[in-house]
Amino acid sequence: MMRAGASFALALRSLLRRPLLAAAVVVASVAAVAANAAASSRVEPGFSRPLPPGFAAPFVPADNPMSAARAALGAQLFADRRLSVTGDYACISCHDPARAFTDGQAQSVGALGQRLHRNAPSILYSAWNPSLGWDAPGNPSLETQMRIPMFATTPVELGLTGIEPQVLERLQADEALRLRFIEAFPDEPQPVTMGNVIKAIATYERSLGEASSAFDRYLFAADRSGMSKAALRGLDLFFSPRLGCTNCHSGMAFSGPLRSVEQAGVGNLYANNGHGMQASEGALARVPSLRNVAVTAPYMRDGALPTLAAVIDHYDRGRPDVLPPLPALHLSRREKADLEAFLESLTDRPWEHLLR
Ligand code: HEC
Ligand code: HEC
Repeated sequence: MMRAGASFALALRSLLRRPLLAAAVVVASVAAVAANAAASSRVEPGFSRPLPPGFAAPFVPADNPMSAARAALGAQLFADRRLSVTGDYACISCHDPARAFTDGQAQSVGALGQRLHRNAPSILYSAWNPSLGWDAPGNPSLETQMRIPMFATTPVELGLTGIEPQVLERLQADEALRLRFIEAFPDEPQPVTMGNVIKAIATYERSLGEASSAFDRYLFAADRSGMSKAALRGLDLFFSPRLGCTNCHSGMAFSGPLRSVEQAGVGNLYANNGHGMQASEGALARVPSLRNVAVTAPYMRDGALPTLAAVIDHYDRGRPDVLPPLPALHLSRREKADLEAFLESLTDRPWEHLLR
């Protein structure tokens, strides 16, 4: 086993990639933002993120620049139940802020009661994912992804296919909401459109993720106060070559390569971790983020594992038959508890304030 100091350096290197350069990159990008403020239309000068320095902001598409008004409108629409066939369903029904934007179900249920065949992932930090969804190929952007929950018919999620005009009429008739659309899309004479609903919600999604967990305070501010001894031992285990977790769960969100303002063109990581290998499944799944994982049970794309302890047991047993093989880990009881304590240290502060 490595000394704590040595493996923490390894952790830093694997997360920040260029730890020595991190400060320089931040300084350089601040200077670049200042220099390009007039030329760049992607982020409004007044828009700020609570991310720690060194955590690069996500990539923002040129045709949907970030603004505080657009994110606030998106937050409201994310919870707006008028955006469903029944009038009582919304994005928030399956992505609930109280559960780090998941729904606590193995597989989500749509507005008309049909069961989806996938577990709802947290959308915190989704903006950094190079592609969205559990299965390959995923969706390349939050805007294109959103058409699935809105318009899918087998099974229905929100069920907006065929009722778009009525939904837009309802939104248009809400005077306070119409004013918020005008603020969010100031150059457009008729801003209440489905395209702008999608842009506003995507902007809100891009604003989610603030890296406020005990682990982040330790990593970015050298503040150990939130990390128990067990969590620190678990951190050593997680980043150790013996466990090999970071062969897949690397990067700022532990989900492999991230798409950020600094690197727009990267691919997602799909892997076989030995779970759910029925022929119909396709063996590869998107490597999920582990941020906030302690509050997003049940686990895996089919939601079959009920607790973190069950996930840790799954890796402990190993799978020699998958490629590359996953060796049995032979973790002691204490090591399992330590690993779980580390995963718990990845929980951000509560999310309710993110619904404006
Ligand atoms: C009926 C439940 C349900 C509703 C309603 C719903 N979602 Fe989802 N969402 C899911 C499930 C399940 C997945 C995983 C789908 C997959 O991988 O096949 C998902 C995946 C996502 C993802 C991909 C996350 C990632 O990192 O891969 C995003 C983003 C997302 N949803 C946003 C939204 C938005 C925005 C709305 C409202 C317009 C919405 N969802 C409504 C259940 C739902
Ligand atoms: C070979 C790549 C790989 C390795 C190594 C790996 N994982 Fe995973 N992990 C995945 C994939 C892929 C999934 C999603 C699988 C699925 O949904 O069927 C996953 C899922 C998870 C989940 C559930 C997340 C969720 O939101 O459902 C946790 C927790 C987790 N891994 C922790 C670990 C830990 C701890 C280790 C080290 C002991 C580890 N993983 C090693 C690829 C890997």
